Amino acid sequence: MNIEEYRIALDDERHKRRASDKLLDEKTREVQSSIAMMQHQFDNLIEQKKESDYLLSVARLAQGDENLSHMVQIFLNESMAYMGAKLARYTFIQDKKVAAGNVLGDVQEIPSLSASLYKKIYSKKDRFIFSVDDLQCEKILPVLTHYRIKNVAFLPIKKFTRVTTVCEFYFEEGVALNQERLDQCMVASYQIGAILERSANKKKIEEGYQEIKASHEKLKQAQSQLVHSEKMASLGQLAAGVAHEINNPIGFVMSNVDTLKDYAQSLLEYFNLSRQYMKNPLDGIEQQMIQLDEKQDFEFILKDIHELIGESEGGLKRVKDIVANLKSFARSDEEKSEEFQINSCIDNIVKVVWNELKYHVTLHKTLDNKLPKIHGHEGQIGQVIMNILVNAAQSIEADGDIYIFTRQADRQVIIEIKDNGKGMSQAVQDKIFDPFFTTKGVSEGTGLGLSISYGIIDKHGGSIDVQSEEGEGTCFSIALPIDH
Ligand SMILES: Nc1ncnc2c1ncn2[C@@H]1O[C@H](COP(=O)(O)OP(=O)(O)OP(=O)(O)O)[C@@H](O)[C@H]1O
Ligand SMILES: [Mg+2]
Repeated sequence: MNIEEYRIALDDERHKRRASDKLLDEKTREVQSSIAMMQHQFDNLIEQKKESDYLLSVARLAQGDENLSHMVQIFLNESMAYMGAKLARYTFIQDKKVAAGNVLGDVQEIPSLSASLYKKIYSKKDRFIFSVDDLQCEKILPVLTHYRIKNVAFLPIKKFTRVTTVCEFYFEEGVALNQERLDQCMVASYQIGAILERSANKKKIEEGYQEIKASHEKLKQAQSQLVHSEKMASLGQLAAGVAHEINNPIGFVMSNVDTLKDYAQSLLEYFNLSRQYMKNPLDGIEQQMIQLDEKQDFEFILKDIHELIGESEGGLKRVKDIVANLKSFARSDEEKSEEFQINSCIDNIVKVVWNELKYHVTLHKTLDNKLPKIHGHEGQIGQVIMNILVNAAQSIEADGDIYIFTRQADRQVIIEIKDNGKGMSQAVQDKIFDPFFTTKGVSEGTGLGLSISYGIIDKHGGSIDVQSEEGEGTCFSIALPIDH
C-alpha cells in the first residue's frame, strides 16, 4: 500500500471513530436521562408510599376504639415523622379556654400559648404556617430560638365546626417545608375531626337510646300502676255498687217485714179474740173484735200483706241475682284453663238461651269450622256469649234477627254477635261496661252482665268492642288470642 492509500484509510478510520464516539455520547446521555427518570419515579414512589403509609395510619384510628388523647398522640407522632418536624404539641380547648395538653419530642416543656392567640391564628383561614417571629409571643420565643426552631405549623381538629384540639408542629431551621405533606396532614386532621364527630353522634344516639329505654321503662311502670289503681278503683266501684244495689231492696224488704210484723201482731190479737169467742160467744168479745177490725182495717191489711210479700220476693230475687252474678265472677279464678272449641261452646249456649230467643228471634249462625281451638275457661266464655245473646234478645222489641259469626284473624279468634234491636245512644255505649249500669227495670237487669263479661275477656288476654246505632241495632265483637 502506498502513502496516499494509507492517508485515505486513516481518514476513513478517523471518520468512523468520530461517528462511533458521537453514538456513544448519545447513548450515554440516553442512559443517564433514563437513570434520572427512574430515580425520579423511584422518589415519587417512595413519596407515595410514605403518603399512603401516613394516611393508612390515620385511617386506622377510625377503626380502633382509642380515647381522644391517645388518638391525638398517634396522629401527632405520625404527622411529625411525615412532615419532618422536630417537636409537636397538642392542646385541648374547652369552653374557649386552653385545657390539658402534651409535648412530643425531645423537649419537656414549651410555654403554652393563650386561647386568644389560637383564635387569632385560626381566624386566618388559609394560613397555618408561621415563622417563629410572626407569632409575636415573648414567652415562647427564647425557648424556640434555643432549640433552633424556625417555623410552626398549626393544624386544628374541629368537632362540629368548633376547634377542640390544636396540634402544633415545630420545624428546625433549614428544614424545608413540604407543602404537599402539610396539605395531607391537614386532610388527616379533618379526618380525626370526623371520627370525633362520629363517635359523638354515636354517643348521642346511645344516650338517646338509653333515654328512650328509660322512659319506656317509666311508662311501663306508670302503666302497670295505672292498671293496678284502675283495678283497685273498679274493685272499690264494684263494692260500692254492690252495697248500694243490695241496700235498696234490703231496705224495702226490711220495712215490709216491719209492717208485716205489725200486721201479724194485729192478726194475732184478732185470732186470740176469735178463739175466745169460739169458747164463749157471749162475753162481749164480738164487740171487741168489731172495734179491732175498725181500728186496723183488716180488709186493707189482707190485701197489703200480699203486696208486701210480692214486693219483698222481688227485692230478695234481685239480691239473689246480684250475688249469683258476683259468685260466678269470683269463681272464675278457680276454674282450670283448658283447650276448647269456640263453635261448640256457642252451640251449647244457644241451647241454654233458646227459650229466651225462640218466640221473637231468628238466629243466623255463620261459624268458621276451621277455627283452631283456644285456651281458656269454656264456662266463662260461655257466660259472656250468653250475656250478649240475652242482651241482644232483650233489645229486640217485636221480631228480629241475631247473627253469630266466628272467624280467625291473625292469631286471634273473632266472635261477632249482631242484632237488629233498638241499638244504643253514644251516652249509653260509654257506660255499658260499668258495673250496675242498666237501662232495664229494677227486676229485669242487674247491670252486671257486660261488666263481668269485660272482666272475663280481659283475663283471657282478649278484647271486647261494641258498635251500635240507635234504631238500627248493635254488634258486639270479641277477639280472643289463640296462644294465650
Ligand atoms: N244488644 C244490645 N242492644 C241494646 N242495648 C244493649 C245491648 N246490650 C247491652 N245493652 C245496654 O247495656 C246495658 C248494660 O248491659 P248489661 O248486660 O251489663 O246489664 P243488663 O242487661 O241491663 O242487666 P243484666 O245483664 O244483669 O240482666 C243494658 O241495660 C242495655 O241498656
Ligand atoms: Mg245483660
